[in-house]
Amino acid sequence: MCGIVGYIGYRSAWDIVIKGLHRLEYRGYDSAGVALMNGGLKILKKAGKVSDLEAFAIDADKTGTTGMGHTRWATHGEPSDRNSHPHQSGDGKLSIIHNGIIENYAVIKEALIAKGHVFKSDTDTEVLIHLIEEIQTDSVDLLEAVRLALNKVIGAYAIVVMSRDFPDQLIAARKGSPMVIGVGEGEYFIASDATPIVEYTKNVIYLKDLEIALLKRDELVVKSIDNIIQTPYIQELSLKLEMLEKGGFEHFMLKEIYEQPRSVRDCMRGRIYPIEGMVRLGGIKDYAEKLKNAERIVIIACGTSWHAGLVGEYLIEEFARVSVEVEYASEFRYRNPIISEKDIVIAISQSGETADTIAAIELAKERGATIFGICNVVGSSIPRLTHAGVYTHAGPEIGVASTKAFTGQVTVLTLMALYMAQLKGTINNAKLVNLLTELDEIPALIEKCFKEDKKIALIAEKFKDSPNFLFLGRGSGFPVALEGALKLKEISYIHAEGYPAAEMKHGPIALIDADMPVVFIATKNSSYEKVISNIQEVKARKGKVIAIVTEGDKIVKDMVDYVIEIPESNEAFLPLLATIPLQLLSYHIAVLRGCNVDQPRNLAKSVTVE
Ligand code: AGP
Repeated sequence: MCGIVGYIGYRSAWDIVIKGLHRLEYRGYDSAGVALMNGGLKILKKAGKVSDLEAFAIDADKTGTTGMGHTRWATHGEPSDRNSHPHQSGDGKLSIIHNGIIENYAVIKEALIAKGHVFKSDTDTEVLIHLIEEIQTDSVDLLEAVRLALNKVIGAYAIVVMSRDFPDQLIAARKGSPMVIGVGEGEYFIASDATPIVEYTKNVIYLKDLEIALLKRDELVVKSIDNIIQTPYIQELSLKLEMLEKGGFEHFMLKEIYEQPRSVRDCMRGRIYPIEGMVRLGGIKDYAEKLKNAERIVIIACGTSWHAGLVGEYLIEEFARVSVEVEYASEFRYRNPIISEKDIVIAISQSGETADTIAAIELAKERGATIFGICNVVGSSIPRLTHAGVYTHAGPEIGVASTKAFTGQVTVLTLMALYMAQLKGTINNAKLVNLLTELDEIPALIEKCFKEDKKIALIAEKFKDSPNFLFLGRGSGFPVALEGALKLKEISYIHAEGYPAAEMKHGPIALIDADMPVVFIATKNSSYEKVISNIQEVKARKGKVIAIVTEGDKIVKDMVDYVIEIPESNEAFLPLLATIPLQLLSYHIAVLRGCNVDQPRNLAKSVTVE
């Protein structure tokens, strides 16, 4: 939540910071602001998007080679010019940008008000910069003042601080919110992720929790918050600039939907050996014995990643015959869950930064569980917190609505289920050979799903004004239905619900009338006949049915209003195919409704607040 970018060097700080903020806008877009060192400390900020800030600052003097910028997802205080970052100290000498939440800000604020501090915004962030101002004296330099102040705050933060009195310094620190330092020659970059940095340098340092850094043009000092000098580890980025561009597509979301044959293939590369009937997962192989003997697996995740977890439950129980529970990380962490050292916990997260998932991991770790991560963003917090893990390798996902990350997560879970089955001997080699041969074909089958795109756009035209939608499926078609409903809600703002098709008769069927579109996952699999009965129940009540069917299916076609075909595949891989038309359906509906597909209202790509 909130994007941060900073620069100190010899280039135009404004240009670097603004470009970086555009890249980080997926993290929040309620307001944007920049602080520049140009003579004094110049602050330019505005409610709205980064482009609104650019328009606002068009005639301003934007020279300077030290600066920082922020794009906000509002927590404390409504989105407004006043609440936009950067915030300043009372004397105007210090400025801060912040991602996270200072939980004890109210107590600190009260104490500061008693000492005469006057606040201009409703934010927790402004309290922190006033606290730094209060601590900083002639004998306490900027780095030390920030360090001492951070020792007094409770909560999460990634911050950058600038001072008029120390014009050649940036101070950065993190706890619970990500921060990457780019190392150049005579210049340093700092950002919430590597995307603003990649075109300038490949050398990066991932700041660790509770570390604070002093950045000068030719010097970097990293300390722990309790004042111990650290030796930062410089690593090379594998990210490429073209991965961050739309590549001719109108929206990132569409590009990412169309990337799925490639991203699923990348996810399987080097991990499946169809001829031998073997799965290799290097990231978790050291825990093979633990996996073999696991009696229970708990999957924790949020949102779309939680839906992938539900698919994982079907797959792991089916193939590896181990009991799986799937939990919302946000609920799990606030219960008193029964977790022991015998358990394996799988945390799923695209960003690797979701605060609730991180807290749930920490809780499970405290109780002795072995934690595996399934993440997309390499080097993010979750892979560093877990004992072992498997990356999805989907590449950067910029659209706020998750698409290729979901299919990547489902692919990894499929591989894990088959890997466990192989270890436990719950599947014989001949069956594994067949399954892996079919799995290997999935990228090509995803490609075939795109043949229906034009038809899907026409269906979207018919239903774009519907106020409600139902999505129904059985078995692993149920999480696909949930994911279809979530996609539609988040980008088109249409109310949608996903249900197990059989549950419909226990309540939701009351919603069916001639105006209710119902999307069924009705492919030819073990629940095909049952789903057909559910379709009949909806049609009997005049509901409008759009069915995702297996290519060539005539039976369903004759009873519903619209069909969207997907190629035939093994039932186990259905979610990897049936999800694709649902992503396209919500995409086209959102575009037709004039919605901002890549940056839907109120959302942010990585939810680093609780
Ligand atoms: C997906 O479209 C959502 N925007 C959201 O539900 C997301 O999946 C959720 O916030 C979890 O994020 P993570 O995978 O980065 O942990």
